[in-house]
Amino acid sequence: MLLKAALATALALAAGAAHAETDLKIFLSSQHRPEVWRKALDQYEAKNPGTKVTIETGGNTSELQAQYLNTVMSAKDSSLDVMILDIIRPAQYAAAGWTADFAGKDMSAYLPTYAEANTVSGKVVALPAFADAMFLYYRKDLLDKYKIAPPKTWDELVKAAETITKGENDPELQGLSFQGKAIEGAVCTFLLPYWSQGKTLVSNGKLSFDKEAAVKSLALWKGFVDKGIAKKNIAEVATDDTRKEFQAGKVLFAVNWSYAWNHFQGAESSVGGKVGVARLPAMPNGEQASCLGGWEFGVSAYSTHQDDARKLVEYLSSPDVSRFMAVNAGLLPTYGATYSDPEVLKAAPWFAEAKAVVETARPRPVTPRYNEVSEVIRTTVNSVLAGATTPEDGAAQMENRLRRILR
Ligand code: GLC
Repeated sequence: MLLKAALATALALAAGAAHAETDLKIFLSSQHRPEVWRKALDQYEAKNPGTKVTIETGGNTSELQAQYLNTVMSAKDSSLDVMILDIIRPAQYAAAGWTADFAGKDMSAYLPTYAEANTVSGKVVALPAFADAMFLYYRKDLLDKYKIAPPKTWDELVKAAETITKGENDPELQGLSFQGKAIEGAVCTFLLPYWSQGKTLVSNGKLSFDKEAAVKSLALWKGFVDKGIAKKNIAEVATDDTRKEFQAGKVLFAVNWSYAWNHFQGAESSVGGKVGVARLPAMPNGEQASCLGGWEFGVSAYSTHQDDARKLVEYLSSPDVSRFMAVNAGLLPTYGATYSDPEVLKAAPWFAEAKAVVETARPRPVTPRYNEVSEVIRTTVNSVLAGATTPEDGAAQMENRLRRILR
Protein backbone atom coordinates (compact mmCIF):
# COMPACT_ATOMS: atom_id res chain seq x y z
CA MET A 1 0.00 0.00 0.00
CA LEU A 2 2.74 2.36 1.07
CA LEU A 3 4.82 1.44 -1.93
CA LYS A 4 1.88 2.06 -4.22
CA ALA A 5 1.37 5.52 -2.76
CA ALA A 6 5.05 6.34 -3.08
CA LEU A 7 4.99 5.19 -6.68
CA ALA A 8 1.94 7.30 -7.43
CA THR A 9 3.66 10.37 -5.92
CA ALA A 10 6.81 9.75 -7.93
CA LEU A 11 4.82 9.40 -11.13
CA ALA A 12 2.88 12.57 -10.40
CA LEU A 13 6.12 14.45 -9.73
CA ALA A 14 7.66 13.21 -12.97
CA ALA A 15 4.57 14.26 -14.92
CA GLY A 16 4.70 17.67 -13.24
CA ALA A 17 8.37 18.08 -14.16
CA ALA A 18 7.64 17.28 -17.79
CA HIS A 19 5.05 20.07 -17.87
CA ALA A 20 6.95 22.41 -15.56
CA GLU A 21 5.59 25.81 -16.34
CA THR A 22 6.81 29.21 -15.39
CA ASP A 23 3.90 31.59 -15.18
CA LEU A 24 4.93 35.18 -15.55
CA LYS A 25 2.63 38.10 -15.05
CA ILE A 26 3.31 41.40 -16.78
CA PHE A 27 1.58 44.67 -16.03
CA LEU A 28 0.95 46.81 -19.12
CA SER A 29 -0.64 50.18 -19.68
CA SER A 30 -4.14 49.74 -21.08
CA GLN A 31 -3.55 52.79 -23.30
CA HIS A 32 -0.48 51.36 -24.99
CA ARG A 33 -1.74 48.52 -27.12
CA PRO A 34 -1.76 45.46 -24.84
CA GLU A 35 -3.33 43.48 -27.71
CA VAL A 36 -0.23 44.08 -29.85
CA TRP A 37 2.17 43.29 -26.99
CA ARG A 38 0.15 40.08 -26.65
CA LYS A 39 1.25 39.06 -30.15
CA ALA A 40 4.89 39.65 -29.22
CA LEU A 41 4.34 37.57 -26.08
CA ASP A 42 2.75 34.77 -28.11
CA GLN A 43 5.94 34.61 -30.17
CA TYR A 44 7.96 34.47 -26.97
CA GLU A 45 5.85 31.63 -25.58
CA ALA A 46 6.25 29.72 -28.84
CA LYS A 47 10.03 30.02 -28.62
CA ASN A 48 10.13 29.25 -24.90
CA PRO A 49 7.96 26.23 -24.21
CA GLY A 50 7.19 26.00 -20.54
CA THR A 51 6.84 29.75 -20.09
CA LYS A 52 3.43 31.31 -19.99
CA VAL A 53 2.95 35.05 -19.79
CA THR A 54 -0.27 36.65 -18.60
CA ILE A 55 -1.02 40.32 -19.13
CA GLU A 56 -2.61 42.48 -16.51
CA THR A 57 -3.69 45.98 -17.48
CA GLY A 58 -5.01 48.83 -15.48
CA GLY A 59 -5.41 52.57 -15.33
CA ASN A 60 -5.94 54.64 -18.40
CA THR A 61 -3.52 57.33 -17.27
CA SER A 62 0.02 57.23 -15.98
CA GLU A 63 -0.86 58.34 -12.44
CA LEU A 64 -3.75 55.86 -12.10
CA GLN A 65 -1.38 53.07 -13.01
CA ALA A 66 1.21 54.43 -10.61
CA GLN A 67 -1.38 54.43 -7.84
CA TYR A 68 -2.13 50.78 -8.48
CA LEU A 69 1.51 49.74 -8.76
CA ASN A 70 2.41 51.71 -5.63
CA THR A 71 -0.17 49.68 -3.69
CA VAL A 72 1.08 46.37 -5.08
CA MET A 73 4.74 47.18 -4.49
CA SER A 74 4.23 48.72 -1.05
CA ALA A 75 2.58 45.45 -0.02
CA LYS A 76 5.65 43.54 -1.34
CA ASP A 77 3.18 41.59 -3.43
CA SER A 78 4.91 38.96 -5.56
CA SER A 79 2.13 38.49 -8.10
CA LEU A 80 3.63 40.83 -10.72
CA ASP A 81 6.92 39.80 -12.33
CA VAL A 82 7.31 42.57 -14.89
CA MET A 83 5.79 46.05 -14.94
CA ILE A 84 5.75 48.76 -17.55
CA LEU A 85 6.77 52.07 -16.04
CA ASP A 86 6.42 55.61 -17.28
CA ILE A 87 9.83 57.24 -17.85
CA ILE A 88 9.34 59.42 -14.79
CA ARG A 89 9.27 56.40 -12.48
CA PRO A 90 12.41 54.19 -12.69
CA ALA A 91 14.35 56.56 -10.41
CA GLN A 92 11.59 56.46 -7.78
CA TYR A 93 11.10 52.68 -8.05
CA ALA A 94 14.80 52.00 -7.78
CA ALA A 95 15.06 54.28 -4.74
CA ALA A 96 12.19 52.37 -3.11
CA GLY A 97 13.97 49.06 -3.82
CA TRP A 98 11.10 47.85 -6.02
CA THR A 99 13.11 46.88 -9.11
CA ALA A 100 15.64 44.11 -9.68
CA ASP A 101 18.80 45.23 -11.53
CA PHE A 102 20.06 44.18 -14.93
CA ALA A 103 23.67 43.78 -13.82
CA GLY A 104 26.23 44.30 -16.57
CA LYS A 105 23.64 45.22 -19.22
CA ASP A 106 25.18 47.14 -22.12
CA MET A 107 22.85 50.07 -22.85
CA SER A 108 24.86 51.62 -25.70
CA ALA A 109 22.51 50.57 -28.53
CA TYR A 110 19.55 52.49 -27.06
CA LEU A 111 18.92 56.18 -27.68
CA PRO A 112 21.08 57.88 -25.01
CA THR A 113 18.07 59.50 -23.26
CA TYR A 114 16.60 56.10 -22.51
CA ALA A 115 19.89 54.51 -21.49
CA GLU A 116 20.18 57.40 -19.03
CA ALA A 117 16.61 57.29 -17.70
CA ASN A 118 16.98 53.60 -16.83
CA THR A 119 20.37 53.89 -15.15
CA VAL A 120 20.10 54.97 -11.54
CA SER A 121 23.25 55.42 -9.44
CA GLY A 122 25.21 53.41 -11.99
CA LYS A 123 22.76 50.49 -12.03
CA VAL A 124 20.47 49.52 -14.89
CA VAL A 125 17.10 49.26 -13.15
CA ALA A 126 14.76 48.80 -16.14
CA LEU A 127 14.96 48.41 -19.94
CA PRO A 128 13.23 50.65 -22.50
CA ALA A 129 9.86 49.53 -23.89
CA PHE A 130 9.17 52.38 -26.31
CA ALA A 131 10.11 56.01 -26.84
CA ASP A 132 7.73 58.94 -26.76
CA ALA A 133 7.43 62.69 -27.11
CA MET A 134 4.66 65.22 -27.57
CA PHE A 135 3.70 66.34 -31.05
CA LEU A 136 1.27 68.63 -32.79
CA TYR A 137 -1.21 66.62 -34.82
CA TYR A 138 -3.16 68.52 -37.44
CA ARG A 139 -5.79 67.96 -40.06
CA LYS A 140 -3.66 68.05 -43.17
CA ASP A 141 -6.73 68.02 -45.43
CA LEU A 142 -8.12 71.17 -43.80
CA LEU A 143 -4.81 73.02 -43.70
CA ASP A 144 -4.34 72.19 -47.39
CA LYS A 145 -7.87 73.36 -48.19
CA TYR A 146 -7.13 76.78 -46.66
CA LYS A 147 -3.54 76.79 -47.99
CA ILE A 148 -2.14 77.17 -44.49
CA ALA A 149 1.25 75.74 -43.50
CA PRO A 150 1.57 73.84 -40.19
CA PRO A 151 2.07 76.54 -37.53
CA LYS A 152 5.52 77.01 -36.02
CA THR A 153 4.35 79.39 -33.31
CA TRP A 154 1.28 79.42 -31.07
CA ASP A 155 0.28 82.77 -32.61
CA GLU A 156 0.24 81.16 -36.05
CA LEU A 157 -1.83 78.32 -34.64
CA VAL A 158 -4.42 80.75 -33.27
CA LYS A 159 -4.71 82.46 -36.67
CA ALA A 160 -4.97 79.15 -38.50
CA ALA A 161 -7.58 77.81 -36.06
CA GLU A 162 -9.66 80.98 -36.34
CA THR A 163 -9.58 80.99 -40.14
CA ILE A 164 -10.39 77.31 -40.53
CA THR A 165 -13.07 76.96 -37.85
CA LYS A 166 -14.77 80.09 -39.21
CA GLY A 167 -14.56 78.78 -42.77
CA GLU A 168 -15.83 75.33 -41.85
CA ASN A 169 -18.59 76.77 -39.68
CA ASP A 170 -18.97 73.42 -37.91
CA PRO A 171 -19.93 73.89 -34.25
CA GLU A 172 -18.49 70.45 -33.52
CA LEU A 173 -14.99 71.34 -34.76
CA GLN A 174 -12.60 72.36 -31.97
CA GLY A 175 -9.59 74.44 -32.99
CA LEU A 176 -7.23 72.84 -30.47
CA SER A 177 -7.39 69.98 -28.00
CA PHE A 178 -4.83 69.43 -25.25
CA GLN A 179 -4.69 67.93 -21.76
CA GLY A 180 -6.20 70.12 -19.08
CA LYS A 181 -7.30 67.43 -16.65
CA ALA A 182 -5.14 67.12 -13.53
CA ILE A 183 -3.25 64.14 -14.99
CA GLU A 184 0.46 63.54 -15.56
CA GLY A 185 0.13 64.83 -19.11
CA ALA A 186 -0.84 68.26 -17.76
CA VAL A 187 2.67 68.59 -16.32
CA CYS A 188 3.87 68.63 -19.92
CA THR A 189 1.04 70.99 -20.88
CA PHE A 190 2.58 73.50 -18.47
CA LEU A 191 6.20 72.81 -19.34
CA LEU A 192 5.91 73.06 -23.15
CA PRO A 193 5.42 76.85 -23.36
CA TYR A 194 7.55 77.36 -20.23
CA TRP A 195 10.51 75.58 -21.80
CA SER A 196 9.82 77.27 -25.12
CA GLN A 197 10.75 80.56 -23.42
CA GLY A 198 14.21 79.12 -22.73
CA LYS A 199 13.56 78.44 -19.05
CA THR A 200 14.31 75.43 -16.87
CA LEU A 201 12.30 74.38 -13.85
CA VAL A 202 14.82 72.48 -11.79
CA SER A 203 18.58 72.62 -12.12
CA ASN A 204 20.90 70.51 -9.95
CA GLY A 205 17.94 69.50 -7.81
CA LYS A 206 17.08 73.12 -7.02
CA LEU A 207 14.06 75.02 -8.21
CA SER A 208 14.87 77.54 -10.92
CA PHE A 209 11.34 78.87 -11.31
CA ASP A 210 10.75 81.79 -13.68
CA LYS A 211 7.48 83.28 -12.58
CA GLU A 212 6.93 85.46 -15.62
CA ALA A 213 7.43 82.49 -17.95
CA ALA A 214 5.05 80.42 -15.80
CA VAL A 215 2.34 83.10 -15.98
CA LYS A 216 2.77 83.25 -19.76
CA SER A 217 2.47 79.49 -20.06
CA LEU A 218 -0.71 79.31 -17.99
CA ALA A 219 -2.15 82.36 -19.74
CA LEU A 220 -1.46 80.83 -23.17
CA TRP A 221 -3.58 77.77 -22.42
CA LYS A 222 -6.32 79.72 -20.68
CA GLY A 223 -6.32 82.09 -23.65
CA PHE A 224 -7.24 79.21 -25.98
CA VAL A 225 -10.34 78.58 -23.89
CA ASP A 226 -11.25 82.26 -23.67
CA LYS A 227 -10.87 82.68 -27.44
CA GLY A 228 -13.09 79.65 -28.05
CA ILE A 229 -10.26 77.76 -29.78
CA ALA A 230 -10.27 75.04 -27.12
CA LYS A 231 -13.50 73.79 -25.67
CA LYS A 232 -14.84 75.22 -22.42
CA ASN A 233 -14.46 72.03 -20.43
CA ILE A 234 -10.84 71.46 -21.43
CA ALA A 235 -10.13 71.08 -17.69
CA GLU A 236 -11.82 67.68 -17.98
CA VAL A 237 -9.85 66.51 -21.00
CA ALA A 238 -7.32 63.69 -20.57
CA THR A 239 -4.88 62.33 -23.17
CA ASP A 240 -7.13 59.68 -24.59
CA ASP A 241 -10.07 62.13 -24.83
CA THR A 242 -7.99 64.33 -27.11
CA ARG A 243 -7.08 61.26 -29.13
CA LYS A 244 -10.68 60.07 -29.47
CA GLU A 245 -12.09 63.49 -30.38
CA PHE A 246 -9.42 64.10 -33.01
CA GLN A 247 -9.99 60.60 -34.37
CA ALA A 248 -13.71 61.34 -34.66
CA GLY A 249 -12.90 64.36 -36.82
CA LYS A 250 -13.86 66.93 -34.18
CA VAL A 251 -10.47 68.57 -33.71
CA LEU A 252 -8.25 70.62 -36.03
CA PHE A 253 -5.03 70.71 -33.94
CA ALA A 254 -4.18 68.34 -31.12
CA VAL A 255 -1.32 68.12 -28.67
CA ASN A 256 -0.66 64.46 -28.05
CA TRP A 257 1.87 61.65 -27.66
CA SER A 258 3.08 59.33 -30.38
CA TYR A 259 0.63 56.48 -29.69
CA ALA A 260 -2.21 58.55 -31.21
CA TRP A 261 -0.95 58.41 -34.79
CA ASN A 262 -1.53 54.70 -35.31
CA HIS A 263 -5.07 55.04 -33.93
CA PHE A 264 -5.75 57.85 -36.40
CA GLN A 265 -4.91 55.50 -39.28
CA GLY A 266 -7.02 52.62 -37.94
CA ALA A 267 -10.29 51.26 -39.27
CA GLU A 268 -12.32 53.06 -36.61
CA SER A 269 -10.89 56.46 -37.47
CA SER A 270 -12.67 59.15 -39.47
CA VAL A 271 -9.38 60.91 -40.22
CA GLY A 272 -7.25 58.14 -41.75
CA GLY A 273 -4.82 59.61 -44.31
CA LYS A 274 -5.77 63.18 -43.35
CA VAL A 275 -3.36 63.66 -40.46
CA GLY A 276 -0.09 65.55 -40.33
CA VAL A 277 2.39 65.57 -37.44
CA ALA A 278 4.67 68.48 -36.63
CA ARG A 279 6.83 69.85 -33.86
CA LEU A 280 4.91 71.73 -31.21
CA PRO A 281 4.70 75.49 -31.82
CA ALA A 282 6.92 78.00 -30.04
CA MET A 283 6.21 81.03 -27.86
CA PRO A 284 7.07 84.46 -29.34
CA ASN A 285 10.84 84.50 -29.99
CA GLY A 286 11.02 81.07 -28.39
CA GLU A 287 12.12 77.62 -29.46
CA GLN A 288 9.93 74.66 -30.43
CA ALA A 289 10.15 72.40 -27.39
CA SER A 290 8.74 68.95 -26.73
CA CYS A 291 8.24 66.92 -23.57
CA LEU A 292 10.08 63.61 -23.36
CA GLY A 293 7.95 60.57 -22.64
CA GLY A 294 8.46 56.85 -22.91
CA TRP A 295 7.90 53.62 -21.05
CA GLU A 296 10.25 51.06 -19.51
CA PHE A 297 10.08 47.45 -18.34
CA GLY A 298 11.10 46.81 -14.76
CA VAL A 299 11.40 43.44 -13.04
CA SER A 300 9.73 43.43 -9.66
CA ALA A 301 12.09 42.97 -6.72
CA TYR A 302 9.38 40.73 -5.23
CA SER A 303 9.05 38.46 -8.27
CA THR A 304 9.77 34.82 -7.46
CA HIS A 305 10.93 34.29 -11.08
CA GLN A 306 13.48 37.05 -11.48
CA ASP A 307 15.75 35.32 -14.00
CA ASP A 308 12.84 34.33 -16.22
CA ALA A 309 11.38 37.82 -15.87
CA ARG A 310 14.70 39.43 -16.87
CA LYS A 311 14.94 37.13 -19.89
CA LEU A 312 11.44 38.15 -20.93
CA VAL A 313 12.27 41.86 -20.54
CA GLU A 314 15.45 41.46 -22.60
CA TYR A 315 13.24 40.05 -25.34
CA LEU A 316 10.53 42.73 -25.07
CA SER A 317 13.17 45.44 -25.13
CA SER A 318 15.06 43.93 -28.09
CA PRO A 319 15.44 45.62 -31.53
CA ASP A 320 13.13 42.97 -33.05
CA VAL A 321 10.25 43.69 -30.69
CA SER A 322 10.89 47.43 -30.91
CA ARG A 323 10.50 47.13 -34.69
CA PHE A 324 7.41 44.93 -34.30
CA MET A 325 5.73 47.45 -31.98
CA ALA A 326 6.68 50.35 -34.26
CA VAL A 327 5.16 48.64 -37.30
CA ASN A 328 2.06 47.19 -35.64
CA ALA A 329 1.25 49.70 -32.90
CA GLY A 330 3.04 52.86 -34.03
CA LEU A 331 5.08 53.03 -30.81
CA LEU A 332 8.34 54.91 -31.26
CA PRO A 333 11.52 52.79 -31.23
CA THR A 334 14.07 53.08 -28.46
CA TYR A 335 16.93 52.19 -30.84
CA GLY A 336 18.23 54.92 -33.12
CA ALA A 337 18.79 52.49 -35.99
CA THR A 338 15.16 51.27 -35.99
CA TYR A 339 13.95 54.72 -37.10
CA SER A 340 15.48 54.17 -40.52
CA ASP A 341 14.27 50.58 -40.90
CA PRO A 342 12.38 50.44 -44.25
CA GLU A 343 9.57 48.34 -42.80
CA VAL A 344 9.08 50.84 -39.99
CA LEU A 345 9.13 53.83 -42.33
CA LYS A 346 6.62 52.16 -44.61
CA ALA A 347 4.21 51.70 -41.70
CA ALA A 348 4.86 55.12 -40.13
CA PRO A 349 6.57 57.52 -42.57
CA TRP A 350 6.55 60.36 -40.01
CA PHE A 351 9.02 58.44 -37.81
CA ALA A 352 11.73 59.82 -40.11
CA GLU A 353 11.23 63.23 -38.45
CA ALA A 354 10.13 61.92 -35.06
CA LYS A 355 13.61 60.74 -34.11
CA ALA A 356 15.00 64.27 -33.93
CA VAL A 357 12.03 65.35 -31.80
CA VAL A 358 12.61 62.51 -29.33
CA GLU A 359 16.33 63.29 -29.23
CA THR A 360 15.75 66.93 -28.41
CA ALA A 361 12.69 66.54 -26.19
CA ARG A 362 13.22 67.74 -22.63
CA PRO A 363 12.82 65.50 -19.61
CA ARG A 364 10.53 66.41 -16.75
CA PRO A 365 12.46 67.19 -13.57
CA VAL A 366 14.30 64.19 -12.15
CA THR A 367 13.91 64.23 -8.38
CA PRO A 368 12.99 61.58 -5.80
CA ARG A 369 10.04 63.85 -4.91
CA TYR A 370 8.72 63.92 -8.46
CA ASN A 371 5.23 62.77 -7.40
CA GLU A 372 4.74 65.92 -5.36
CA VAL A 373 6.21 68.16 -8.07
CA SER A 374 3.84 66.60 -10.58
CA GLU A 375 0.85 67.04 -8.29
CA VAL A 376 1.52 70.75 -7.80
CA ILE A 377 1.91 71.41 -11.51
CA ARG A 378 -1.01 69.41 -12.81
CA THR A 379 -3.50 70.64 -10.21
CA THR A 380 -2.50 74.25 -10.89
CA VAL A 381 -2.87 73.88 -14.66
CA ASN A 382 -6.26 72.30 -14.10
CA SER A 383 -7.42 75.00 -11.72
CA VAL A 384 -6.40 77.81 -14.11
CA LEU A 385 -8.18 76.14 -17.01
CA ALA A 386 -11.30 75.59 -14.92
CA GLY A 387 -11.27 79.33 -14.25
CA ALA A 388 -10.83 78.85 -10.49
CA THR A 389 -7.38 80.50 -10.37
CA THR A 390 -5.84 83.26 -12.48
CA PRO A 391 -2.57 82.54 -14.30
CA GLU A 392 -0.82 85.03 -11.96
CA ASP A 393 -2.13 83.40 -8.77
CA GLY A 394 -1.53 79.96 -10.23
CA ALA A 395 2.11 80.75 -10.97
CA ALA A 396 2.60 82.26 -7.49
CA GLN A 397 1.05 79.23 -5.77
CA MET A 398 3.06 76.89 -7.92
CA GLU A 399 6.28 78.65 -6.97
CA ASN A 400 5.53 78.58 -3.23
CA ARG A 401 4.51 74.94 -3.23
CA LEU A 402 7.43 73.82 -5.39
CA ARG A 403 9.86 75.75 -3.19
CA ARG A 404 8.68 73.82 -0.15
CA ILE A 405 9.16 70.50 -1.96
CA LEU A 406 12.51 71.27 -3.57
CA ARG A 407 14.13 73.05 -0.66
C1 GLC B 1 2.74 59.36 -22.38
C2 GLC B 1 4.22 59.47 -22.12
C3 GLC B 1 4.51 59.46 -20.65
C4 GLC B 1 3.69 60.54 -19.99
C5 GLC B 1 2.23 60.29 -20.22
C6 GLC B 1 1.41 61.39 -19.61
O1 GLC B 1 2.32 58.06 -22.13
O2 GLC B 1 4.94 58.47 -22.77
O3 GLC B 1 5.88 59.63 -20.40
O4 GLC B 1 3.96 60.68 -18.63
O5 GLC B 1 1.97 60.22 -21.59
O6 GLC B 1 0.08 61.29 -19.88
